[in-house]
Amino acid sequence: MKKVVISLGGSILIPSLENHTIREYVPVLRKIAKHCRLYVVVGGGGEARRYIGITRELGIDEGTSDEVGILVTRLNATMLIAALGEDAYPKVAESHAEAKKFGESGKIVVMGGITAGQTTDAVAAVLAERVGAAVFINATSVDGIYTADPRENPDATRFDAMTPKKLLEIVGGTALGAGSNNVLDIVAARVVERSRIPLVVLDGREPRNLSNAVLKGRYRGTVVSDGEKNPLPL
Ligand code: UTP
Repeated sequence: MKKVVISLGGSILIPSLENHTIREYVPVLRKIAKHCRLYVVVGGGGEARRYIGITRELGIDEGTSDEVGILVTRLNATMLIAALGEDAYPKVAESHAEAKKFGESGKIVVMGGITAGQTTDAVAAVLAERVGAAVFINATSVDGIYTADPRENPDATRFDAMTPKKLLEIVGGTALGAGSNNVLDIVAARVVERSRIPLVVLDGREPRNLSNAVLKGRYRGTVVSDGEKNPLPL
């Protein structure tokens, strides 16, 4: 069975406690998991940002603020596991090794953050390497990678496909200015380059986009690869 790693941004799964999409994502993830071995890395979303806002206000260092962020991602992961019930491995993986081990159960593996100084995109990129995923999917709140942040720059254009080198240029800001595009963190982009595992960045605000992409190959987004054939549908 092919393995798929999905970075499910907190900004789409739990933008806030009042506006979560957990109920909609449960059937979508179950459906995908019938066709592959599925690993889901959950982000922190708006609540993580709120907590980190408070730690900064209190003058608490960035590393400790990251630890608070990680706890929120694990809290979100715990909720998703509970909502998936029997279909998920019952414990949040706290390391890549643990995620790999839990995957042997055949159940959906869910994890959050693991170490300070990065985001869950980086966790997911390394997990894709560790489990030998056929594809790494970043489900986020934009429909792909743009030349610049489309929310700030109306002239930005979207890439259908790009090489990992180009991705690094954009995310690293060497071509377009630091912080101009935060669709993926720089650590994740570097890992994507070295792993040669194709990355698909797509809009996850509508949960069905994810199953349409994985199972039917129907999506609007950006494929990052060295030109091999399209990784989706599986
Ligand atoms: P996220 O991965 O959710 O970051 O982790 P994000 O950029 O806010 O992404 P979205 O909006 O959810 O998609 C939340 C915070 O948790 C800490 C960081 O502080 C991050 O900003 N974190 C997360 C870590 O320090 N290490 C990790 O491995 C993961």
